[in-house]
Order: sequence, then C-alpha cells, then structure tokens
Amino acid sequence: MITKVKHICCIGAGYVGGPTMAVFADRCPDIQFYVVDHNKDRVDGWNSEDLSKLPIYEPGLKELVEKCRGKNLHFSTEVENYIPLSDMIFISVNTPTKNKGIGAGLASDLKWIEMSARQIAKYARSHTIVVEKSTLPVRTAELINTILQSNDSVNKNSNYKSFTVLSNPEFLSEGSAINDLLNPDRVLIGGNDEKSINELVAIYSNWVKKEKILKTNLWSSELSKLTANAFLAQRISSINSISGLCESTGADIKEVSLAVGTDSRIGDKFLNAGPGFGGSCFKKDILNLIYICEYYGLHEVAAYWRVVIDLNTWQQKRISNKIVEKLFGTISGKKIAIFGFSFKANTNDTRESPAINICKDLMEEGAELQIYDPRVNSEQIQKELDYPIKDLDNYYLGAGGWIYSENIYNSFIDADAAVFLTEWEEFRNINWKRVSELMRKPSWIFDTRFILDLNEAKDLGFNIWRVGLG
Ligand code: UDX
Ligand code: UDX
Repeated sequence: MITKVKHICCIGAGYVGGPTMAVFADRCPDIQFYVVDHNKDRVDGWNSEDLSKLPIYEPGLKELVEKCRGKNLHFSTEVENYIPLSDMIFISVNTPTKNKGIGAGLASDLKWIEMSARQIAKYARSHTIVVEKSTLPVRTAELINTILQSNDSVNKNSNYKSFTVLSNPEFLSEGSAINDLLNPDRVLIGGNDEKSINELVAIYSNWVKKEKILKTNLWSSELSKLTANAFLAQRISSINSISGLCESTGADIKEVSLAVGTDSRIGDKFLNAGPGFGGSCFKKDILNLIYICEYYGLHEVAAYWRVVIDLNTWQQKRISNKIVEKLFGTISGKKIAIFGFSFKANTNDTRESPAINICKDLMEEGAELQIYDPRVNSEQIQKELDYPIKDLDNYYLGAGGWIYSENIYNSFIDADAAVFLTEWEEFRNINWKRVSELMRKPSWIFDTRFILDLNEAKDLGFNIWRVGLG
C-alpha cells in the first residue's frame, strides 16, 4: 500500500511519543517525522550529542535515534512550525488523573489534549489526519473533533482546511517498547473515515502484517485500550491476592502460577506476583474506567474495578508491614538496602512505582534507606519520595531518611535487610558470600519479585522472605 502522507508530527516527546516515532522513522524512511514538545529540557535531551543523555531509557532506542535523527526524525519545541507542514498529527501528550475539581482522583485531566487540539486547529493548513495516541476516556475524539471544527480552524488565508480524527492507542510496554512496536500483537485503528484509516494502515503496513491491523469504530478503539489495561492489571491483582494466601498456607506462588498458567484458556503471561503494579497507565486507566462507569450509573461495574486498585494498595502495604514484622517489630534507626526504584526493569520510569509507597512507609517507621537503581538517578528518587536525603548534621537515630547508592555492594554495608523491588537482571548475579561480610547480622533478604537464586544465601545463614512463599 502506498501512502500520500509525507510529513508526520507527534505532539509529546515522552515515553510513548519518543520511542513510537523512532520506530516509525526507522520503518518509513520516505516520511519525515517531527516530534514536538513544549518541554525544552526534554527536547534538548532528545537532541543531545551524547546518546546516553536521551531523556528516556529503553533497550534499542538509542540505536534507532542514532540512525534516524537529523535524517527523517527531528525533535523540536516549535509546534507552530511543524503542525502546518504535516499531513498527519499524533497526539501523545500525558493525561494524568485530575487532582481537583469535578472527577478529582478518578477522571483523566484532558487539558493537554484540548491544548493540542487547539494548536492543531490554529496552525494546520490543509486536510490533516489527527491521531489519538494517548490513552483517553471514551468519546474524547468527539471533544477533539468539536475543537477542530470550531471557528479557530477557519484559515486566515482562506485555504480550506479539514480534519479527520482517528484513535490508534499504543499497547507498548515500557522496557520492551521497541520490540513491542516492531512486533505488535495487533495495531488498533478506530475511525469513521475509510480513506484516512487506509492512510494509517499504509504506514503500519511497512512492517506489520495486514491481519494484525484491526479496524473498529472510534469508541470501541478508545474503550478497548482502557479495557486491555484493566484486564492486565486485574490479573496482577488476582495473582497478588493469591500470593498472600500462599504465604499463609504453605503453597508456593511460582508453582501455583505455573499450574494455573498452563491452562491454555488462562495463559501464562502476567501471572508474576510482586510488590503491586506501577507505571503511568494501569491505575490511571482503571480510575478512568471507574469514573465512566459511575457517570453512566453502572455502580456495580465501578465497584468491581475499584477492588483491583484496592488490592494493589494492600499488596504494597502488606510488604512494608512484613518487613517491620520480620525485623522484630521495629525498624527505627535500622539500615535497609533498597534494590530497584523504577516501576519495572529496563526503564528509568518511576511513575506510580511500588517502591515509592514502600520506601515512604519504611522511612515513616524510622528506617534509613540506602537506595540503588541502575537507571534511576537520585534527583528522580528525591522528586518521587519528597523526603529529605539523610542530613548528617541534623540526624538523630530513628529520624528516617535515605541516601543514594552508586553501586550494588555499597548499599549492603551495615544493612539489616535488603529489599528487592525491581527485577533488574544484575540482581540475579549477586555474590552472597561477599554480601554476608557487609551486612549486619541477623541479615534479611526480602525478594518481592521472587527473582533471586537464594540457595547460596540460605546456606550462608541469611533469613529470607519471598512474595508468595513466605
Ligand atoms: C503516555 C500517553 O500518551 C498517556 O495517555 C498514557 O496514558 C501514558 O503514556 P507518556 O508518553 O508516558 O504518556 O507521558 P510523558 O512521558 O509525560 O510524555 C508526554 C509529553 O507530552 C511530555 O514530554 C510533555 O512535555 C509533552 N506535552 C504535554 C506537550 O508537548 N504539550 C502539551 O500540551 C502537553
Ligand atoms: C502497560 C501495558 O502492558 C501496555 O500495553 C500499555 O500500553 C501501557 O501499560 P507498562 O505499564 O509499560 O505497560 O508495563 P507492564 O509490563 O504492563 O507492567 C506494569 C506493571 O505491572 C509493572 O509494575 C510490572 O512490574 C507489573 N507486573 C507486570 C507484575 O507485577 N506482574 C506481572 O506478571 C506483569
């Protein structure tokens, strides 16, 4: 299929917009891609000569940026210059949960979506296909369409301009974004205008098989994204609920997951018990689903999904309580080493990371944390914890605080407990003999992801707690 589209703009150079456009640019060398963002620091990061300074860490991303940047992939703050150039515009801005006003705590804040639509209405020149990439509440396309068709879109030069809105939600998972984009399970395109849909199909056809491209109406597409995320999160809450039961009964969550997951009707993915799901999407999207259900009077449906989030909060709390309980009921003044702060491995993203609540709980109990993460820097941790870094001049035992560890083994020094919160590969090869000489005794290991090989540690006399095993 041949597309007429030659210039594509993407508003939002974040975790979705950046990697998505890098893959598009790699697969569509005849199209120019302009990724625009109002955050100058972010854009500077994307344009950085030193590729280790890209604002987002994703395996395989820097290689694609290196290959395409300056050729057919461009990063800029100049929204007003690239919108008029483009035949197709992706909206990939963030849609956080509202923290005030109507729907506070549940509904998505659509102010950035609205702002993007207004920018497009103002600067677009001729016919423009507008694609929703951000996850949005059902019927947001209506809002975008209303803005686009408004007075602002009357071109000052009296050139005719018109718009079509499509929904094309992203299903990439952070940490494997490039692979997910290159080999998607499916590409979903929602819309009413067959011609515009075919333009987008033509772009994806450069690397995705036709059978994998699903076409639906706009509302089905928007709702499918929310539903997919809700189902995935629900599986995690389901397995985490059983992890608690395993610990009480002597069952082993790994064995239960395997036995349950080999039923082909259930499947083996997303059955890893852990410290609860994090990331920018699951909680926000379920809250949004709840809000929509309440709006339509479907209170029982809203209550059903609410429990998925409650269970997630319970799992995080359960883990911090377990640590206190095992350390003789008090962690005040004790050193605890934390391994992993990102919400999952292979990303530097910390949004909604379970590490945030667990670390805060431990510090509230007076613990001194020594936090190590291979990709998350101390400024980012400071921002999330909003808790002072240990101030040695004014420190008193039991004040609670944290310090940043530059390397794995430093974190263990004098610690009573080591808590593993993210499944980073490098944690699998820890030399427990060396660690046993660094920690205070009795020493505890809490493996909240059930990823460590702890046979040697057991022989060395470590006390061990694993999620779903005890
Ligand atoms: C995405 C999706 O788009 C969102 O719907 C989904 O639910 C979470 O993931 P993400 O790429 O992860 O968002 O967000 P973020 O990394 O915050 O990137 C959004 C970017 O948009 C930011 O860099 C922000 O500066 C930019 N932005 C926001 C604009 O350029 N213009 C705006 O008006 C608003
Ligand atoms: C998710 C969806 O997977 C993706 O399709 C959508 O586009 C965006 O939201 P993401 O949040 O990037 O992607 O990562 P994901 O792999 O889904 O993990 C989310 C959270 O669930 C992480 O905290 C992860 O550690 C946790 N998780 C995942 C588990 O605890 N157990 C599992 O078995 C799988």
